[in-house]
Amino acid sequence: MLKLIIIALVVTALSAATLFEEASPEGEADGAQPFRFSHKLHMEQDLACVECHLNAPNGAAATLPPTRVCLLCHEEAQGEDPDEPRVREYAELGDYIPWVVVNQTVGHVYFSHEAHVTWGAMDCDTCHGDVRSATESFTGSQTANLTMGVCMDCHVERGANNDCIACHK
Ligand code: HEC
Ligand code: HEC
Ligand code: HEC
Ligand code: HEC
Ligand code: HEC
Repeated sequence: MLKLIIIALVVTALSAATLFEEASPEGEADGAQPFRFSHKLHMEQDLACVECHLNAPNGAAATLPPTRVCLLCHEEAQGEDPDEPRVREYAELGDYIPWVVVNQTVGHVYFSHEAHVTWGAMDCDTCHGDVRSATESFTGSQTANLTMGVCMDCHVERGANNDCIACHK
């Protein structure tokens, strides 16, 4: 009996968390991310997007930065923000900080950053909007509006491959 109650509680907590995540506006922290990360502050350090999202030019996934990238600067304390020391705490635990990935197409769709960023010479902002002004970690997708119709319209406009198999592998 107790087991059942616990399972019921866990299930309720999980579905509440999912609903909340979907409902929360873009860029508003709801505690789902390990800690706050400000793109704005980091873009002011003269970094390029691909210095952290290392695979965007040559991979399907852009990928989130490994802790060694953070340690280039955070080996030593930077600024006064209470979240800043957490970079070193996480780096001691492993190679990656467990950020929750918020931009994700459905499973049967194939997307490639290389195709758009390198072959198509597209700017990140085209699909992700104004990331450089974000002062909180992302909790909502910026690419959920990229439905099949939107993807295909741009492919028609730009003369890109619109065979089913290009996006459904
Ligand atoms: C043509 C639209 C488009 C462009 C341009 C684009 N993205 Fe994306 N991005 C997406 C889509 C769609 C997803 C979800 C992909 C998936 O589920 O495979 C995504 C996911 C991501 C993710 C999370 C998952 C992952 O791939 O690691 C990151 C980080 C990211 N993009 C960063 C970037 C950066 C940095 C650039 C520029 C260098 C960029 N994106 C350019 C559409 C785009
Ligand atoms: C080029 C140097 C540089 C790199 C690389 C860098 N940071 Fe920073 N970071 C800074 C500086 C400088 C500050 C403090 C700025 C200030 O307080 O004015 C800072 C502040 C922070 C803060 C506190 C402010 C905030 O909320 O963003 C966090 C958290 C942080 N960095 C996380 C990271 C993580 C995670 C990475 C790796 C993905 C990273 N940083 C990579 C230079 C860097
Ligand atoms: C200092 C390293 C750093 C730089 C530079 C940086 N990012 Fe990020 N980016 C991160 C980290 C860490 C996260 C995860 C925390 C968050 O959501 O903010 C992230 C998350 C993202 C996400 C959401 C990924 C997902 O789906 O969960 C996108 C999109 C993104 N970055 C795009 C960009 C773009 C576009 C630029 C350039 C304008 C850029 N980033 C520059 C470190 C960086
Ligand atoms: C704003 C325009 C734009 C949007 C939106 C866009 N794409 Fe593309 N895509 C392109 C361009 C341009 C290319 C061709 C790049 C080249 O080869 O020069 C391309 C190429 C591709 C390729 C490689 C095709 C091949 O075999 O050559 C795939 C896969 C792809 N896109 C999937 C997607 C998916 C999935 C979406 C929606 C989630 C999407 N794209 C949204 C412009 C766009
Ligand atoms: C440029 C990329 C692209 C091309 C080309 C493309 N699709 Fe899709 N397709 C998507 C994306 C993104 C989704 C998921 C988002 C959505 O449902 O709109 C999707 C979803 C679907 C779904 C699921 C719809 C649903 O309601 O769940 C089917 C079925 C599908 N595509 C069939 C096809 C067929 C058949 C073709 C060829 C005539 C095709 N697609 C060409 C990007 C593409």
